Amino acid sequence: MKIKKSILDLIPYPPGKPIEELTREYGIQEVIKLASNENPLGPSPRALGAIRRALSQLHRYPDGSGYYLKQALSRFLRLEPEQILLGNGSNEIIELALKTFLKPGVEVISPFPSFLVYEKAVQALGGKNLLMPLKQFTIDLEGMMDRINPRTRIIIINNPNNPTGTIIKRREWERFLKGVPDRILILLDEAYIDFVEDPDCPNGLEYVNSAKNLLVIRTFSKAYGLAGLRIGYGLAQTDLADYINRVRQPFNVNSLALAGALGALQDKAFYEKTRTLVRTGKKALEKQLAEMGIYYVSSHTNFILIKVPQKAQAVYEAMLKKGIIIRSMESYGLEDYIRVNIGLPEENRRFLRALKQVLNR
Ligand SMILES: Cc1ncc(COP(=O)(O)O)c(C=O)c1O
Repeated sequence: MKIKKSILDLIPYPPGKPIEELTREYGIQEVIKLASNENPLGPSPRALGAIRRALSQLHRYPDGSGYYLKQALSRFLRLEPEQILLGNGSNEIIELALKTFLKPGVEVISPFPSFLVYEKAVQALGGKNLLMPLKQFTIDLEGMMDRINPRTRIIIINNPNNPTGTIIKRREWERFLKGVPDRILILLDEAYIDFVEDPDCPNGLEYVNSAKNLLVIRTFSKAYGLAGLRIGYGLAQTDLADYINRVRQPFNVNSLALAGALGALQDKAFYEKTRTLVRTGKKALEKQLAEMGIYYVSSHTNFILIKVPQKAQAVYEAMLKKGIIIRSMESYGLEDYIRVNIGLPEENRRFLRALKQVLNR
């Protein structure tokens, strides 16, 4: 069998370690996971109710058009249902967009370090990655514009950016949107937009109707607590949404995900509770880190990028032995940084206690 070089060279995405794996390997029962920017409150209760009610229909194929969820999103976002794409996680929408536009020799500009899935999906689909380094941990939109060349077909922006938690500001975003030629797709990944409080952070939704080359993607995995269900959505002008929709499988989103997302969207109380938990937890965590003299990147998300005075991998392993799963940022090219998401107050305290011990503070 002849395997394509792009696949031979592909290093799979390193996911956060599952809790069960740590229990199995280290025999630790009291494990906490702060590694995958998940919602520590669990799933939205209204999503769970809707999922339970949908269980008896599992012998049927899902509604491939996602009619009711699109209707609800359409009302919620004030866009036409035809402007909405549904995906098996927002990750699938990234892949669908790449499949729609990539062909051999075509280039995709994306930030680095950023969400590793972009780079890997481009590579898997035979495209060429052009990675634009961050500037002071922030996406360099001007630098990205300078890198545009005749082979550029897609630019990916992650706002706020994972793993730094930084945002781009409205003025530079608008300049960028105006400056990028229409032939280039701008994929704006807003997986963490629900946690942003800064009014100077652009909201992709406001730009969809005026930019025909813009695709905004969002997820139910974070603020709605449905990461295991796998559902996200994309927003674009009708033509663009239609092209991308042609690429998907007929039943790409399962029926429990459709029902759960619909329930979650109505769960305003859970959504607000999550935002409050993240806001207060982040404030407390950042304050404590500052008191410990530990550098961190000020975050607009539900996670914090933290600099450690030794190899991140060693800190990661030492924390594992204490039953705490965090993320070493080595695979993101940040050898002395860890990333930790905001947990429940007790989880945050336990994380800090363990970190103090590991770093001898
Ligand atoms: C920047 C970014 N985009 C997308 C996702 C994936 O979201 P989903 O679970 O909807 O596929 C994540 C998940 O961690 C992320 O960090």
